[in-house]
Amino acid sequence: MREVKLGIAGLGTVAQGVFALIQRNGALIRQRSGVSLRVVRVASRSAKPEIDLQGATFSTAVSDLLQDPEVDVILELMGGQDTALELIRSALAANKPIVTANKAVLTAHGNELTAGQGAHLLRFEASVAGAIPIIQGIGGGLAANRLNSLAGIINGTCNYIFGEMEANQTPFDEVLAEAQRLGYAEADPSFDIDGIDAAHKLTILLALGFTGQYDLSTVFVEGIRHITVADIQFAKELGYRIKHLGIILNSDAGVEARAHCALVPNDALLAHVNGVLNAVQINSDGAGETLFSGPGAGGEATASAVLSDVIALAQQGSQKNAREAAEAVTTAPTLIPMSQVSSANYLRIPTLDRPGVFAQVTQALSEFAISIDAAIQHEASSSQPVVDIVLLTDSVLEETMNAALQRLQSLDIVAADIVRLRVAPAAL
Ligand code: HSE
Repeated sequence: MREVKLGIAGLGTVAQGVFALIQRNGALIRQRSGVSLRVVRVASRSAKPEIDLQGATFSTAVSDLLQDPEVDVILELMGGQDTALELIRSALAANKPIVTANKAVLTAHGNELTAGQGAHLLRFEASVAGAIPIIQGIGGGLAANRLNSLAGIINGTCNYIFGEMEANQTPFDEVLAEAQRLGYAEADPSFDIDGIDAAHKLTILLALGFTGQYDLSTVFVEGIRHITVADIQFAKELGYRIKHLGIILNSDAGVEARAHCALVPNDALLAHVNGVLNAVQINSDGAGETLFSGPGAGGEATASAVLSDVIALAQQGSQKNAREAAEAVTTAPTLIPMSQVSSANYLRIPTLDRPGVFAQVTQALSEFAISIDAAIQHEASSSQPVVDIVLLTDSVLEETMNAALQRLQSLDIVAADIVRLRVAPAAL
C-alpha cells in the first residue's frame, strides 16, 4: 500500500470534484490500485470556507505547493496560462510529479514540457475530452496500432448548441446564452464557438497519436457562428447532422488535421452523440474502429481523469512518457496544408428569386469542374424574396472550392453570404 499526498492548485469545480471522489471512493481506489490518496495542501487565490478541505492546509501562494516536502504530487487545476506554466515548469525542474488539465498550456508549450527534465512526471489525461480516457487510450490501450484516422466531438458546448437549435429551432445566440448560464461554456465563450478549444484538444491528440509535435498552427480551425437553424434543417433533409468535429487523417500522402463544422451522415456513430457529451472515434490498423464516449467537462468527470493520472504516476515504472511513445512510432510525417485537403461540401446560397438563377450557380461551379451530388430549392414565398439554393458537391480540393466560392459570392443574384460546410470524410 502506498499513500500519495496531493497538493492542489485551484479550488474550482474540478478541485472540488477531486475532494468529492476521494471522499466517496477513497477505499475503492485503495483496493483497486493499492494507492491511498490524501489532499494535504491547497493553494488558491481566494479561500472558499464553504468547501471541506478534508484537513488540508490552505494558503494563497501556489509556490507553497512546491516548497511543502509533504506534497508527493501536484494537481494544477487553476487554468489560465502564465502561473500554471510556471508551476508546471518548476515542478518538473524539481522532479515533482504534476498532473494538469490545462490544454492551453500544453498546446503552446507541449514540446518543451513533454521532452525536458522530468517529462515523465507530467500527465494530462483531463486536458482532452474530460472523463474520457483518450490519452491513456492512445498511449496505452491502442499503443500497438498505427492510427489511420481520428474524428471527435471534443467541444461539448458546440454540440449542445447544435442539439438545442435542432430540437427547438432556437437561434444560435439564445442557445449560447443558455449554455453559459448552465456553466458549459468556457469563461470566454469565443474559445468554444470559434473552435479554439477544440483546436487545442486536437493539437494534443495530433502530437500524441500522429506527429509527436505540439503545434497549433498545423491545425486548421473554424467555429460555428455561421450556422443557422435553416442549415441544420437542410442538412437533416439531406440525411446528415451538423457537428463540430476535430478530424485527423493519416494517409500515405501525409497527415491532415482540422477542427470545423461537418455534415455527418445519420448512420454514423458520431451523429448520435448528443448534448454536452464528447466522443472520439479512432480507426487503427489492428484494433479497427473504436469509439470512446463520455462527459467532456464537469467537476467529478474531469476529476476522474485527474485521479487516473495520479494513480498511474504512483504505479509508474519505467514506462515511456506519452511524447516519447508517440515519437517512437512516428517518423516525421508530412503535414498536409488545408489548401490540399479534399472534401465534399454543403453550400447554402441565398439567391434572388429570378429566372435563370439555378443555371448561373451551376454554370459557375462547372467552370471549376465541381460536380453536384444533390440539390434542394424550396418554393419561394411572397414574404421571402430571397431563396436558398442548397447543394452538395462531390469531393473537391479546398483551394478549388475556395476559388469557386469567391466566384459564386460575386454573382449579382447572390443576395447574402454563402454558407459552406464540409462533409465529414467518408473514412469515418
Ligand atoms: N468548454 C469545454 C467544452 C469544456 O464545452 O467542451 C471543457 O474543455
